[in-house]
Amino acid sequence: MPKTKPLSIGLIGAGRIGSFHGETVARRLVDADLVAIADPAPGAASKLAEKLDVDAVYTDIADFLAHPGLDGVIIATPARFHTNVLVQAAEAGKAIFCEKPMALTLEEADRAVAAARAAGVPLQVGFNRRWDQAFAEGRAAIDAGKIGTPQLIRSLTRDPGPFGADPDKIPLWTIFYETLIHDFDTLLWLNPGARPVEVYAAADALVRPDSRSKGFLDTAVVTIRFDNGSVAVAEANFSALYGYDIRGEVFGSGGMVTMGDVRRSSMTLFDAEGVSNDTWRRDTDHFIHGYTAQLASFVRTIRSGDISGSPSGADARNALAVALACIESVKTKTVVSIA
Ligand SMILES: NC(=O)c1ccc[n+]([C@@H]2O[C@H](COP(=O)([O-])OP(=O)(O)OC[C@H]3O[C@@H](n4cnc5c(N)ncnc54)[C@H](O)[C@@H]3O)[C@@H](O)[C@H]2O)c1
Repeated sequence: MPKTKPLSIGLIGAGRIGSFHGETVARRLVDADLVAIADPAPGAASKLAEKLDVDAVYTDIADFLAHPGLDGVIIATPARFHTNVLVQAAEAGKAIFCEKPMALTLEEADRAVAAARAAGVPLQVGFNRRWDQAFAEGRAAIDAGKIGTPQLIRSLTRDPGPFGADPDKIPLWTIFYETLIHDFDTLLWLNPGARPVEVYAAADALVRPDSRSKGFLDTAVVTIRFDNGSVAVAEANFSALYGYDIRGEVFGSGGMVTMGDVRRSSMTLFDAEGVSNDTWRRDTDHFIHGYTAQLASFVRTIRSGDISGSPSGADARNALAVALACIESVKTKTVVSIA
C-alpha cells in the first residue's frame, strides 16, 4: 500500500514558542513536515530553518502563504498580530493553529472566527493544558460523572522564578491576556456546559513593586461565578522560585479531581539533607507531550476536517471574555458581569 504523504506545515513566528513548535513538527510528528518559516525579523526564520533543515524562509506573510502546497500554518507571533495574520491565513485557505490569545478584543475574536468559518478552514487555539495527561484524565473523570456536580474549581499558573524579564518590555495586562488565559480556558473546559457570569479580579506587582506605577502586574487572583452555581478561582504569579507550577482541581458533590504536579517525576531523593524532588523549570519541558499531542491533533484535524475535541476559536473567545472582564474588574475594583 502506498505511504500517505506527510502534510506540509508552515510556521509564522520563529521566536521562543514558534521555534519549539517548529521543532515539534520537524522532529516529533510523523505525519507532517515543516516546509516553510516566516518571520519579519531579519535572520530569525533562516536561523531556525537551518537548524531544522527547512528550505523556504520568508519575511513577508503574503509571500509565505503563497508557498506551494501548504496544508496548514502555525501562528506563533506576538499576541497583538494574531488576528490579522489568522485572517490572512484563512483567506488563503490554510488550516490554522493559533497560539493563545487568539485575539485581544471580542471584535477581533469574532473577526477571526468568522474568517475561518467563511473559508471553511479548521481553527485550533493553543490551549495546551487540555492535552496534558493529568488534565485530560481529570476532564474524563468529570465527563464520567465521578465527581458529581462541580462546586469549587481552581486553576493556577506560577511561572518559574527568579523573574528575569524587563517589565517595560511586557505589554500591559499580560497576566490576564497571556498567562491566566490558560487558566480561564481550563476552568471553562473543566466545567462543561456552564457559562461564566461574573468575575472579580485583584492584581498587583509583588514581584516587581518598582514597576507597579507603570501598570505592570505580576500577581493576580480571580474569582469566577458560573451559571450552574459553581465558583472558580484562578491565580498567577510570575516568579515561583521552586519551579514551573501548574495545577488544577475540581471539587464536586461526589468527590474531587486534582491535576498537575510541580515535581518532575516520582523520583525522590533521600539523603543527609532530607527528602527532595527536582521540579519543572520550563513550560517546554513540563508540557512537551501535551504540546506535541496538540499539534498531532491539529494534523489529524487537517486530514479529517473534524475539529471537535480541540480548543476552537469560540473557546478562545470565551476565555478572552473572562480576561477582559478581569481587566475591567482591576480597573474599577468591582465585580464585573460577563454578557
Ligand atoms: N501555549 C503556551 O504555553 C505558550 C508559551 C509561550 C508563548 N505562547 C504564546 O505564543 C506567542 C509568541 O510568544 P513567544 O514567547 O514565542 O514570542 P517571541 O517574542 O519569542 O517570538 C515572536 C516571534 O514572532 C515574530 N513576529 C513578529 N511579528 C510577526 C508577524 N507579523 N508575522 C510573523 N512573525 C512575527 C518575531 O520577530 C518573533 O521572532 C504569544 O502569543 C504567547 O502568548 C504560548
